[in-house]
Amino acid sequence: MRLDKYISNATDLSRTDAKRIIKNGEVAIDDEIVTNPAQKIAPDQTVAIEGSVISMAKSRYFMMNKPAGVVSVTKDNHNPTAIGLMYEHRSDELQIAGRLDIDTTGLLLITDDGKWNHRLTSPRSDCAKIYEVGLAEPIGADYAAALAKGVLLEGEKHLCLPAHMEQIDDNHLTLSIAEGKYHQVKRMFAALGNHVASLHRFQVGGITLDTELEPGEYRPLTDLEIASIQ
Ligand code: URA
Repeated sequence: MRLDKYISNATDLSRTDAKRIIKNGEVAIDDEIVTNPAQKIAPDQTVAIEGSVISMAKSRYFMMNKPAGVVSVTKDNHNPTAIGLMYEHRSDELQIAGRLDIDTTGLLLITDDGKWNHRLTSPRSDCAKIYEVGLAEPIGADYAAALAKGVLLEGEKHLCLPAHMEQIDDNHLTLSIAEGKYHQVKRMFAALGNHVASLHRFQVGGITLDTELEPGEYRPLTDLEIASIQ
């Protein structure tokens, strides 16, 4: 990246101001004064303005174990929000990547990287979301085949993409879906004549909910987890 762009990204200075201070000899790369605004910076170099090192704010990525009763929006006048449970600077820049209903628990991904969020949530993303589902009525013998074929949700014209289920017991199963339509899992089981009594997401793509996280707790994602969303 060019030196003037790096400075305007990492500070409040405009690109014009950045050019001015560079030309004034106020900027050093690895302790050497540089006066060319177009000078390129390598990732391992340090940039200082009048002796103070500056750095680009890195994007932030978190997973939360969302408790029931918490909403996955940034602001809400009636219910606690997931972002409100976090102790982070500039929390107004954080976005939720793939919402969960107020009564759904489990893996919630939060970031300030809009591109990463889009890769995860765009309709073309084929990222699998895996849920543990508790049903009010026993699982029907035809469910696995119907889900694999694609069910038709009320109000929709097209079938859902094929989904994969694995039965745990009479009323519980894991369900893997590739889409993220509004209330998708609840509507899929409504289409099969059942009712979702509990819903817990434990995996999104290559990211699995950390079992060390108590409900309401969160942690930064590892580099591997971040890179797993392509
Ligand atoms: N599907 C739902 O119906 N609710 C959720 O919270 C997530 C997926």
